[in-house]
Amino acid sequence: MYYEPGVIHHGLPHDPFKSCVVPRPIGWISTTNQDGTDNLAPYSQFQNITFDPPIVMFSANQNSSGQRKNTTENVEATGEFVWNMATYDLREAVSLSSAEFPAGVDEFKETGLTKAASRIVKPPRVLESPIQFECTYLQTVRLPGNGVMGTVDVVFGRVVGVHIADSALTADGRIDILKLRPLARLGYHDYTSVVDVFTLASPMSEIGAGGLEGSPDRVSAALAQKS
Ligand SMILES: Cc1cc2nc3c(=O)[nH]c(=O)nc-3n(C[C@H](O)[C@H](O)[C@H](O)COP(=O)(O)O)c2cc1C
Repeated sequence: MYYEPGVIHHGLPHDPFKSCVVPRPIGWISTTNQDGTDNLAPYSQFQNITFDPPIVMFSANQNSSGQRKNTTENVEATGEFVWNMATYDLREAVSLSSAEFPAGVDEFKETGLTKAASRIVKPPRVLESPIQFECTYLQTVRLPGNGVMGTVDVVFGRVVGVHIADSALTADGRIDILKLRPLARLGYHDYTSVVDVFTLASPMSEIGAGGLEGSPDRVSAALAQKS
């Protein structure tokens, strides 16, 4: 089959687009508004985009009333947000926190999650989540789109603090992915979690392999070795 979005209809009973780009990690983003009320919402149009310095982005469509989402408003107003890892164990709370609560409603209270104080930024972390990034706002790229929800705010932030629960690490100091089962979005109303990990040897140079691993230390060591 072939279709052209907005031009030639796919003809399927459900739109396939989001099911083609899978799995998408979930940016479970906590923010605080200018009045001091905390906010928490999941964003699966989320990624890390570079590692030195580490930068993440999430992409917020407008809400069903055609307004910018609370998370975007809060990040731009305060310059700060926190990314919390969503896991299989936390899947119900992740979903509940996506309800379209009005601005000023604290999703931590609505979900029964526990706030953990951040060190550098004001928004709290989700204590039940095993890994959190404290982030400072960099910029928004606003892309116009169709209909009430189509216009999107792509929000970039620099990771300035990383919290990893001791229990999330293996004895040899790696993140224990199979224990955490990070949650990810598929298409439709489907989700997955990581239950399988395999390793491939890298064909790249030592410098490139350091980039693949996201390790500035390994890149620097490889450059020093070369010179
Ligand atoms: C797993 C999951 C992923 C989501 N990903 C996105 C996303 O990438 N972009 C978006 O605009 N909305 C996304 N949503 C919907 C938002 O979470 C929802 O609109 C929420 O009410 C926004 O809250 P806020 O206005 O407090 O920011 C997602 C919902 C769920 C359940």
